[in-house]
Amino acid sequence: MQVLGIDIGGTGIKGAPVDTDSGELLGERFRLLTPQPATPDAVIETVSELVTHFQWKGPVGCGFPGVVRHGRIDATANLSQDWIGVEAQKRFEQATGCSIAIANDADAAGLAEMRFGAGRDRDGLVFVVTLGTGIGTALFVDGHLVPNTELGHIEIRGKDAELRAADSARERKELSWKKWAARVDEYLHRMHALIWPDLIIIGGGVSKKHEKFLPLLTLDCEIVPAEMRNAAGIVGAALLQTRS
Ligand code: BGC
Repeated sequence: MQVLGIDIGGTGIKGAPVDTDSGELLGERFRLLTPQPATPDAVIETVSELVTHFQWKGPVGCGFPGVVRHGRIDATANLSQDWIGVEAQKRFEQATGCSIAIANDADAAGLAEMRFGAGRDRDGLVFVVTLGTGIGTALFVDGHLVPNTELGHIEIRGKDAELRAADSARERKELSWKKWAARVDEYLHRMHALIWPDLIIIGGGVSKKHEKFLPLLTLDCEIVPAEMRNAAGIVGAALLQTRS
């Protein structure tokens, strides 16, 4: 099946056509900046621009940086709060004329890693963490997704964990790799003590620089970089159309 995968992020909105059987991108990725403020109207317009760029008429899958249940947005930390309660699937369908499947962005990226990447054929409890503008999490139990875990928002040192340890915190505070890795390490230790995963997969754009921080982590658990790197969000978004 060919699906246009769209990864809506707090900073950028990226898309590419995807072959959902092989997980391969069928064309160049196209990226637009997330409009600020990221209101429903502005983001829907940007997504429509992406669909038009690819002259796409077929099915579309969208990863959204928030809680998505039955096509509706229930929470988001890094987009406008006007999204809360919006029937996103319907709104995107009306704007693009395409069939839309939509889910949380980290869940989507996790699905791609479990199908084609670092989580392939892995049973037990797999914890996927995406480090980007926020911290996204996806939890898989014997390959089955537990949707909408918001475990990037646990409290650490009196703060929302993602404000301390997301990649945007590294950039915002100009932290060295060592300082930032210590924050990621603390976050993973806390999460490990709560959910005891068998495998942790680190995704998000920064995962392409994994050699700068993964070796600095001290947690006694198998921790690997996402194999699909930043493409996981797009491929996973496309896979949403293959789920019933
Ligand atoms: C949101 C999550 C999202 C993550 C990554 C967090 O702020 O609450 O839903 O998966 O950012 O975009």
